[in-house]
Amino acid sequence: MRAYEIIAGSSTLDGLRRCERAEPKPQPTQILVRMRAAALNYRDLLIARGHYMGGAVAANTVPLSDGAGEVVAVGSAVTRFRIGELVAGTFFRGWIDGKPPRGPLAALGAPPVDGVLAEFAVFDQQDAVSVPAHLSAAGAATLPCAAVTAWRSLVDIGKVAPGETVLVLGTGGVSIFGLQFALMAGARVLVTSSSDEKLARAKAQGADGTINYRTHPEWDREVLRLTDGRGVDHVLDVGGAGTLARSIGAVAVGGQVSMIGVLTGVGTAGSPYGLLAKQATLRGVYVGSRGQFERMNAAIATHRMQPVIDREFDFDDAPAAYRHLEGAGHFGKVVIRL
Ligand SMILES: NC(=O)c1ccc[n+]([C@@H]2O[C@H](COP(=O)([O-])OP(=O)(O)OC[C@H]3O[C@@H](n4cnc5c(N)ncnc54)[C@H](OP(=O)(O)O)[C@@H]3O)[C@@H](O)[C@H]2O)c1
Repeated sequence: MRAYEIIAGSSTLDGLRRCERAEPKPQPTQILVRMRAAALNYRDLLIARGHYMGGAVAANTVPLSDGAGEVVAVGSAVTRFRIGELVAGTFFRGWIDGKPPRGPLAALGAPPVDGVLAEFAVFDQQDAVSVPAHLSAAGAATLPCAAVTAWRSLVDIGKVAPGETVLVLGTGGVSIFGLQFALMAGARVLVTSSSDEKLARAKAQGADGTINYRTHPEWDREVLRLTDGRGVDHVLDVGGAGTLARSIGAVAVGGQVSMIGVLTGVGTAGSPYGLLAKQATLRGVYVGSRGQFERMNAAIATHRMQPVIDREFDFDDAPAAYRHLEGAGHFGKVVIRL
């Protein structure tokens, strides 16, 4: 079958190359999926650059955690899926619901688990979900990592309530899903971005307040100004060391900061003691479980929510899709059609 792989030791996007792989055969509890679309996450840049979870990939690995396709064969013991169903694999193997199992958790698209940038992929039936019926394969492909992370932070654990205020940083995949889920829950949303044009798009999507973090490097002060000094009830911090202190500055008394991303690195983030007087919660979030994915899909189906896709690339142009994500000109998700 046609596929891409990140070659062992890769430290740049040049480590992504075309390859031929044997078509996988489903074991008794597995499903064989003909992939129709895949979506990129910032993590996929980190993996190709050799900066993910301790360094470069040690073995050639098919990249990308996020994809959707039809079930074309099922193992003899499969009961959860039928041939023809549109499905997506879960980000992690073996985390069904409840608290995360003791790690290390294996995740799609990084060793030891091949990802979905290939014509076919196999998943254990426990590590896949049916996707909302109104979504195309491209829309469904965007869900496993970014959407589940935003859903879990805000809704499944965060219990965002109508009338609360949510702050999302930047306009990438996680943040735009955060905007959409917060609006679905009846919350008010503030968005930061480096681009006024993207902030106008965020407003068109329903954001109430917008802040350009280039022209307002002290954007936490702007957040306080836009909330009458109160701060926000939820922050999705995708920035990491360079944004966490300001996220803590922007959160309200009793609020929650979800520590999600590493866009500015993982160095020293400043003092967390601002949380104490505010009695606020700082929570590490690493994607989520199959149960969280399924509950999110139920909400997406009820609201007929459409993921925001910035651009779709053909399979042959996968390297250009990576470069597009790297350029950070996107708003929402970047998809590759298979
Ligand atoms: N913990 C988890 O489970 C989990 C899951 C998914 C993602 N992540 C992490 O979350 C981060 C975002 O991932 P993604 O896939 O959504 O990324 P993405 O789609 O590539 O989004 C990148 C966007 O982030 C914004 N950004 C960059 N630097 C920023 C800064 N200093 N302050 C505020 N915004 C900034 C920019 O938006 P503008 O162009 O609008 O400025 C940029 O376009 C990454 O670090 C990723 O590794 C973690």
